[in-house]
Amino acid sequence: MKRLVLACLAVAAGSAAVLAQAPASSPSDPIAERKALMKSVGAATGVATRMARGQAPFELAKAQEAFKVFQDAAAKMPTLYPETSKTGGDTSASPKIWEDMAGFRAAFAKFGADAADAAAKTTDEATFKTAFGQVSQNCGSCHQNYRVSR
Ligand code: HEC
Repeated sequence: MKRLVLACLAVAAGSAAVLAQAPASSPSDPIAERKALMKSVGAATGVATRMARGQAPFELAKAQEAFKVFQDAAAKMPTLYPETSKTGGDTSASPKIWEDMAGFRAAFAKFGADAADAAAKTTDEATFKTAFGQVSQNCGSCHQNYRVSR
């Protein structure tokens, strides 16, 4: 019983941390907002990766939470790249985003669709590993095209 309570507390603390990283909508600072969103994606990916590698026990709720964070970010990210936000704020956004906004939006649409698909297919540890492996291929391919290393 004690273990269960501790596990629930850990889950609650984890989601609070993710929420704290995604501030309420502030269109005046799209760079900070999109960086916070991507950080929440990074945090969710960390949790999912540890479960996929067997470094943390598999929990269906945590797996589904990660896919939800991905879908949420995929929906919001494309709205956070106005022409006025190409530089500053320690952004690692590539100029290619504004040269190819249609391709950038399409990459997020694919990420969101893949995350929804992964959520639908994940029912246990085995299905999670396959689904997470597939959806996480989006990270590298998009970063390669639309993000610069600092
Ligand atoms: C369709 C494009 C796209 C996908 C998919 C994507 N990212 Fe990103 N990511 C970006 C862009 C663009 C930035 C640069 C953010 C900025 O500064 O504007 C970024 C930045 C980041 C950052 C750095 C945030 C910071 O502190 O500045 C992390 C961490 C990250 N992504 C993790 C991930 C992970 C993990 C995945 C996959 C689960 C992923 N991303 C999928 C486009 C994407």
